[in-house]
Amino acid sequence: MEIKLLQTTAEKAETDALIVLDFEKREGDHWLDGAAKGWIAEIRTAKEFTGKSCEISIMHRPAGFKAKRLAVAGAGPADKFNPAELRKAVAAAVRALKGKSLKRLTLALSEPTADQITAAVEGALLGDYEPDQLKTDAAKTDKRLESFHILGPASLQPAVDRGRIIGEAQNFTRDMVNEPANILTPLALAAHARQMSSEFGLDCEVLDRDRMTQLGMGSLLGVAQGSAEPPALIVIRYNPPSGPTKDKLGLVGKGVTFDTGGNSIKPADGMEKMKYDMAGGAAVLGAMRAIAQLKPPVSVTALVPAVENMVGSRAQRPGDIVTSLNGKTIEVLNTDAEGRLILVDAITYAIRLGCTHLVDAATLTGAIVVALGHIHIGAFTNNEAFLAQVMSSAKAEGERMWQMPLDDDYKDYLKSPFADLPNIGGRWGGAITAAMFLKEFTEDKPWVHLDIAGTAWVDDAKPFTAKGPSGVGVRTFVNLATNWPT
Ligand code: BES
Ligand code: ZN
Ligand code: ZN
Repeated sequence: MEIKLLQTTAEKAETDALIVLDFEKREGDHWLDGAAKGWIAEIRTAKEFTGKSCEISIMHRPAGFKAKRLAVAGAGPADKFNPAELRKAVAAAVRALKGKSLKRLTLALSEPTADQITAAVEGALLGDYEPDQLKTDAAKTDKRLESFHILGPASLQPAVDRGRIIGEAQNFTRDMVNEPANILTPLALAAHARQMSSEFGLDCEVLDRDRMTQLGMGSLLGVAQGSAEPPALIVIRYNPPSGPTKDKLGLVGKGVTFDTGGNSIKPADGMEKMKYDMAGGAAVLGAMRAIAQLKPPVSVTALVPAVENMVGSRAQRPGDIVTSLNGKTIEVLNTDAEGRLILVDAITYAIRLGCTHLVDAATLTGAIVVALGHIHIGAFTNNEAFLAQVMSSAKAEGERMWQMPLDDDYKDYLKSPFADLPNIGGRWGGAITAAMFLKEFTEDKPWVHLDIAGTAWVDDAKPFTAKGPSGVGVRTFVNLATNWPT
């Protein structure tokens, strides 16, 4: 998609559709001049258009414009307008218009700021995304925008670049999450990581099974042993142009390329969705793709433990006891609670590599979906100040996050008579006991755990997004790194 700034007026822009925003409860006239002002007033009076988020009204051959269509896009209440609302409104407009084969679009904002331009470019890229990379239908290219132009001064070009870098990174994540598990094996995920790293100048290392055995990653390897697909621990390092920093941010992402549940097998119904159990890992890789280009002022190390959780004669059994990299023994009471088993070895390794701050993203529990539905990411921490930093990044990026409790009392839910700890708690508070399990391996480093089981996959398409992978987490990670306090 061609994306660029244009220095012209709304009237003179030559385009398939000129998009302007309008708000709920707007006072005064719309900022557009001429006949358009009257038309917008008319559709509002007639209540054909109210300005609600994701609404769209299209005028054909608008008088006084070079554009073939004028599209008024609802952006919600004027007093709640922010870059997140703009991103959503643009994405919805893009989806509505490309659905009518209007593929060369231009956005006119009344007084564009840098943050708005970035959000608009992201919105265009995210709205254009379709999870159809494996469809062979030639018509699918018809479903893509050709160009997205924004009216604005050339001085805002860096904001366009930032939007493109982040939007493309998030779509890169979505493509990986959408790849089925027969194609996206742990080694294939590692190959994506390697390819991306060499393209963007990052250092990428992949630890194989032998190396992990040597190191003693018994917890991760126990999960991997049931699969014919070998595991991989992907490690990517970024340092700012000025050299490594004292703070080192560790981003850890769950990379279970398929989760059958293992011997504690999942029901057949809906199991196909478990290809998205590597969405945390993919979000970390997408974030690194953007970080490599935006060059934030903090060192960042990405760690993605990639395994397939299978059944079979080699698969681990309930009751097995494994020894993790940090030496703690774990009784595997449920082989379907595998995410935490691979994450703890990656977390220990991150600490060994010198990470001073840790954030992990994982499709960790069904319980977080019960608690928060598909709207909020569940956030857990051992350090309130660090969580505040992560939450403020999430807020700025329109990724909704809700803090969950992690009081020490929950530790009582994790007791094993035979090992240092079991990999599951009892029936209650499943997302919290999962987080508590991870916390036991954080060695008091500031750490935030993001449970994205409810937010990484969109079950029903929305006006602003296709069904399928959401790419959640990427923007928060990138924002966290680029706004790192120095
Ligand atoms: N990958 C699943 C969690 C999940 C569930 C992700 C639904 C996305 C949608 C995870 O490995 C898992 O199976 N967790 C179990 C834990 C239980 C055995 C304690 C769960 O949530 O049921
Ligand atoms: Zn599982
Ligand atoms: Zn899982």
